[in-house]
Amino acid sequence: MSDTFDVIVIGAGPGGYVAAIRAAQLGFKVACIDDWKNEKGDPAPGGTCTNAGCIPSKALLQSSEYYAQAAHHFGEHGISLKDLKMDVAKMLARKDGVVKQNNEGILYLFKKNKVTFFHGRGSFLKTVDGGYEIAVTGDKPAIVTGRQIIVATGSRPRQLPDMPFDEATVLSNEGALRMTAVPKKLGIIGAGVIGLEMGSVWRRLGAEVTLLEALPTFLGMADEQVSKEARKAFDKQGLKIELGVKVGEIKRGKKGVTVHYANAQGEAQTLAVDKLIVSIGRTPSTEGLNAEAVGLQLGERGDIIVDEHCRTNLPGVWAVGDVVRGPMLAHKAEEEGVAVAERIAGQHGHVDFGLIPYVIYTNPEIAWAGRTEQQLKAQGVAYKAGTFPFLANGRARALGDTTGFVKFLADAATDEILGVHIVGPYASELIAEACVAMAFRASSEDIARICHAHPSLSESTKEAALAVDKRTLNF
Ligand code: FAD
Ligand code: NAI
Repeated sequence: MSDTFDVIVIGAGPGGYVAAIRAAQLGFKVACIDDWKNEKGDPAPGGTCTNAGCIPSKALLQSSEYYAQAAHHFGEHGISLKDLKMDVAKMLARKDGVVKQNNEGILYLFKKNKVTFFHGRGSFLKTVDGGYEIAVTGDKPAIVTGRQIIVATGSRPRQLPDMPFDEATVLSNEGALRMTAVPKKLGIIGAGVIGLEMGSVWRRLGAEVTLLEALPTFLGMADEQVSKEARKAFDKQGLKIELGVKVGEIKRGKKGVTVHYANAQGEAQTLAVDKLIVSIGRTPSTEGLNAEAVGLQLGERGDIIVDEHCRTNLPGVWAVGDVVRGPMLAHKAEEEGVAVAERIAGQHGHVDFGLIPYVIYTNPEIAWAGRTEQQLKAQGVAYKAGTFPFLANGRARALGDTTGFVKFLADAATDEILGVHIVGPYASELIAEACVAMAFRASSEDIARICHAHPSLSESTKEAALAVDKRTLNF
């Protein structure tokens, strides 16, 4: 007996669960299948983002930031604390609680929108008439048929050759979020987004953290001025970052891990650590989908090949999020999920790939939208730049957090905003104004003419816009 749905979504991460809800809002009969379980074996929809990514990492970043503030900055406010201690078990329990609230929130939303949820693994089956059914394996095996299928199976961590994760000493993002004690020495391979965020958490709590990065430039995808400013701050915090390294043999011992590597000068080095996080990028997740059997086309990275509308080579089969091309970001997955549901309904779902914000939740936070200065130079675009430091912002001084700046890049002829780059307090929130402005193709003059509340960090955005025309008022 097979249940028939208008739309079946495989995966309930940000791409999948949002696609399912949007499709249900549009009047379709929708099923969503997801295999993630929590420690008790219960369904835990929300994907990597909710269970082992965005949400738990931000929970730990918040706890560790409070600890660092208490340890290093409360004194400036006249607050003294005796016997400051970090209860790691409690911090982890709080994080798990935050994750659970999100899992439950998604189950509630499924109910509210009448999305049928299947807990298990979905894989394609070919039917005799050339269509597809999805077999669900799990606690309650089922066969479901859908007129339209959206694959949103996400990604999994890449491991180093010959060094599988054991989540005890060699950790992926999952183990990095579950360490039950602060390691004395923590090694991280890859100084990308996970390396910097997880390195920050454990450094703030007292670990000696060393990041080994293969590339010779630090955070090469960000605007160069921003990466330089962030690097200065990370150096001050004691995050040791070695660039241009070549990681060689890694030995797992009883007490920890030894990494043999060549430094940028080619000299042989060893790093002995208690725990090693490997954060060298992620691989699209298609294993178990039975993609080959139904002829679903995959790329070299194991990603599902899609066109700009997220259509796969199979009629009626779509794919969104980390499992397809583009940045592996939750909000990008969500945008694609919504757009696909709308396209299925005959609407013109749209994703502006040029306007996906990037945020790194370190201290200082790093956020940007649009193009970097080095990209504009390489593309031969004539531009004007304006920068405003948080040091000159009253709210930042009151906060006691004056690191960084807001930087505007605008077209030299039309003044249209081409990129906004922020390093500093609440950059993750401030970047939204830049996205709105750029979506409406605003000029820097437009932002400069808008009244911003005083005192607020957002005044730095207005001042950076004024700086494009060399007329900042407070710097
Ligand atoms: P996923 O979230 O990976 O969800 C896919 C779901 O499908 C999973 O539950 C998986 O188990 C399930 N699944 C897979 N195959 C099957 C199958 N055959 N049958 C049934 N279910 C299946 N992004 C941000 O934008 N902001 C952040 O702050 C951020 N922080 C991150 C921190 C970390 C440590 C990590 C690892 C990632 C972070 N990301 C962040 C990236 C973000 O998590 C991903 O971009 C996002 O989760 C992708 O969503 P998705 O829906 O494509 O896939
Ligand atoms: P990443 O792509 O951000 O960084 C990986 C780093 O590892 C790169 O700098 C790369 O040069 C380096 N590297 C690769 N192989 C190496 C090797 N053998 N030795 C040394 N260095 C090596 O990937 P990461 O940090 O694993 O995160 C995966 C994805 O998750 C990110 O691309 C991002 O999309 C997403 N994410 C987003 C976050 C956010 O939005 N705040 C937070 C965390 C993750």
